[in-house]
Amino acid sequence: MFTDSTFEQFQGAFEGFADIGTGTFTLITTTFVLGAALAYRQLCTSKIQGKTPPHIPSSIPFLGQAVSFGSSPIEFLLAAYDKYGPVFSFTMVGKTFTYLVGSDASSLLFNSRNENLNAEDVYSRLVTPVFGKGVAYDVPNPVFMEQKKILKTGLSINHFRKHVDIIESETRDYFTRWGAEGKNDIFEAFSELIILTASHCLHGKEIRACLDEHVAQLYADLDGGFNHLAWLLPGWLPFPSFRKRDKAHIEVKKIFGKAIEQRRADPNPDDDMLQTLIESTYKSGRKLTDDEVTGMLIGLLLAGQHTSSTTSSWLAFFLAKDKALQDRVFEEQKQIYGNGLAPVDYDHLKDMQLLDRCLKETLRLRPPIMTMMRMCRTPQTVLGYTIPPGHQVCVSPTTNQCLPDTWKDFDKFLPDRFLDPEVANSEKFAYVPFGAGRHRCIGESFAYVQIKTIFSVLIRKYEFSLIDDYFPEVNYTTMIHTPRKPIIQYKPREF
Ligand code: HEM
Repeated sequence: MFTDSTFEQFQGAFEGFADIGTGTFTLITTTFVLGAALAYRQLCTSKIQGKTPPHIPSSIPFLGQAVSFGSSPIEFLLAAYDKYGPVFSFTMVGKTFTYLVGSDASSLLFNSRNENLNAEDVYSRLVTPVFGKGVAYDVPNPVFMEQKKILKTGLSINHFRKHVDIIESETRDYFTRWGAEGKNDIFEAFSELIILTASHCLHGKEIRACLDEHVAQLYADLDGGFNHLAWLLPGWLPFPSFRKRDKAHIEVKKIFGKAIEQRRADPNPDDDMLQTLIESTYKSGRKLTDDEVTGMLIGLLLAGQHTSSTTSSWLAFFLAKDKALQDRVFEEQKQIYGNGLAPVDYDHLKDMQLLDRCLKETLRLRPPIMTMMRMCRTPQTVLGYTIPPGHQVCVSPTTNQCLPDTWKDFDKFLPDRFLDPEVANSEKFAYVPFGAGRHRCIGESFAYVQIKTIFSVLIRKYEFSLIDDYFPEVNYTTMIHTPRKPIIQYKPREF
């Protein structure tokens, strides 16, 4: 879930090694160990029955395609698709990746059983130190499935109704600091705002009340744990980002623990996600422990934080680039809420169909999660190829969502394309920004509620434009593909 540029992973790993002053030795040892593992895996692969996927050759033994993939992953994958077809493998930093491109090939990953194509094997090292033990990829998948079911109960329409009011008011408050007009970093603004809205909606008022600069820094340190280094290397190594992450985890746990205690003692508790978690039980009848509740609260915040702030930033830039479209989105607000622009409410979010399509198209062209991954544990057959155990099997929404043979004018931002019923019902896995199958996102509806409410407030307040026609390039070096130099221009909307 949290992967992309292995180039930065390697860079990051290298910086980390230098940081503890034993760079060369550690790098050589790691290279040797990973190289030996690769040789062993290749030996096993040679015993596989059936045709293995075409392997993109590389003259660089251990790094393989890390640099070409890392500098422009989507171009790399599209070129490989053209040359090798929908299933191909390549090596990066001693690991073999097999990509499944397009709807037919992707069905293997989305329809697979977790014991065959496994998520914990690839995500746990990264996620468990941040969320904590006993949740998500630290527990057997059936337990995580029960946890997802509990979380879904908390993401109910009754709760969304209250969320809209909270998000509207947080957004109004936040943007007072921007003033009437100017130029500002929209990605920074959305990152800060979405911590406030998500914490308020998903954690409850007690935890939101504790959210000061110190706690924001703790969240940032926890989030800093999601880096390529953590994905590549064991968590006990003494890197500064690992230490900060572990310290922040302990402190956040204490803060959340107090809030849970306070809530349990409240004779009149709010009906919200925290209360849902406190009252829910597993199928066995056991209640969630405080550690599990804490882990799930951290998970809720971080799973939705970068995904929603990045999507919102790209949406703002797509609207800034197309003034006529932006005006139509504003007109839609007037049609729904009248010229007096009444406050946003949940029941009318569904009527914002143009804004909906704009968001959908943003998620097509700039899905925040570039690649979903699984570890192949048993030989898997797809489109005539057999993928050997040990390969990391990947599907990239970004790639599936811009295949020229599926998407007309694939590189253009055309929200109205979704009015065409053929596009809306196209191949099953051609459009997968929220994944599919057993690991599918549970946060889609909340993300739509959040982003549509934020944009309803902003589009009424401001007219956005690009500065000197600069539309941000994609920053491929971060784990989620953010906009580079995300400064936007704004002035009051006149109507
Ligand atoms: C624009 C916003 C979001 C996008 C694009 C997004 C995308 C995704 C994707 C692609 C997956 C599948 C990962 C995989 O198969 O490996 C996923 C899973 C998940 N997401 Fe989201 N997400 C978003 C927001 C949220 C929010 C707001 C929450 C929580 C409130 C959330 C919670 C989860 C959870 C719990 C999973 C399940 C992981 C699993 O079963 O392995 N997401 N998301």
